[in-house]
Amino acid sequence: NAKALVFSGIQPTGIPHLGNYLGALESWVQLQEQFSRVLYSIVDLHSVTIPQDPSTLRQSVLDMTACLLACGIDPEKSILFQQSEVSEHAELAWILGCLTSIPRVRHLPQWKVKSQTQKSEGSVGLFTYPVLQCADILLYKSTHVPVGDDQVTHMELAQETARIFNKKYGDFFPVPKAILSATKKVKSLRDPTVKMSKSDPQKLATVTITDSPEEIMLKFRKAVTDCTSAVTYDPEGRPGVSNLISVHAAVLRLTPEEVVAQNVGLDTEHYKRVVSEAVIETLSPIRDEIVRLKADPGYLRTVLDRGAEKAKELAGPVYQEVRRLVGF
Ligand code: ADP
Ligand code: NA
Repeated sequence: NAKALVFSGIQPTGIPHLGNYLGALESWVQLQEQFSRVLYSIVDLHSVTIPQDPSTLRQSVLDMTACLLACGIDPEKSILFQQSEVSEHAELAWILGCLTSIPRVRHLPQWKVKSQTQKSEGSVGLFTYPVLQCADILLYKSTHVPVGDDQVTHMELAQETARIFNKKYGDFFPVPKAILSATKKVKSLRDPTVKMSKSDPQKLATVTITDSPEEIMLKFRKAVTDCTSAVTYDPEGRPGVSNLISVHAAVLRLTPEEVVAQNVGLDTEHYKRVVSEAVIETLSPIRDEIVRLKADPGYLRTVLDRGAEKAKELAGPVYQEVRRLVGF
């Protein structure tokens, strides 16, 4: 389909963890093969919705670029770019914001959560960031958007905003579809009832893609399981060991049942070693590649600048047409 276009964004906040890799980045890599037009944006405009240190932000954008390339994002197959380099994102967000009601945004669950975790009431930017997400998606007339289930409500806003715009100004934006990850959420290694998250303060709870083999071994060794030692898959009754099994299955690209069948007879202590070895095997080449890429910030900058040029070639004509439709 010549009209199909995949868009997704990731904030430049820290090194991705195993959940980000298995739940999002791995499928981003696969989508490059399935679609001819694919854009991935490091969404730095979104990062300044909460207090941000300039030199950390600058470094984080390069770090995230290195991580994405190391995971397999290929700048020949995808347009990889830094959001703030394409000014049309913010310009379209303004227009879309004028079509979006305040109560519609106020009722989004993420606003409630995020504004409550801020010390102050939260900025206007934090409030309207879902509108900026709509602009990110619609600016390229995107048709497919890989998202986590926590972003489904924002995807609905993007779909609704496309419809509102089309109703007012004529059929223009395709209504984008969400591509939901098929992978089960990776759980915290310290509390298997919650998802692994970069904001988890608990040491040893989160495996990042740059952890050393020793760190990975240690984190899995300390993973919370239960007092039964058999390896059985029961996400409700035995969330700890089941999380290990689903991580193992994801890195081997097998089903949990196949993984269990291969490991019957092991006790959980031994099984944790088996899982860490499989995770190390998956992450080690990525980690080495990140180290190699980070040593060459000039190359990373070049990738982003070329990506931004290509993104502008797509965004420019769409935005010019939006201006004309709106009457500017
Ligand atoms: P975090 O929750 O760690 O802040 P983000 O919200 O930045 O992560 O998520 C980036 C992407 O990674 C999203 O597509 C999200 O659904 C996915 N993701 C985040 N945490 C996990 C997890 N524990 N398991 C699977 N996917 C995850
Ligand atoms: Na999240």
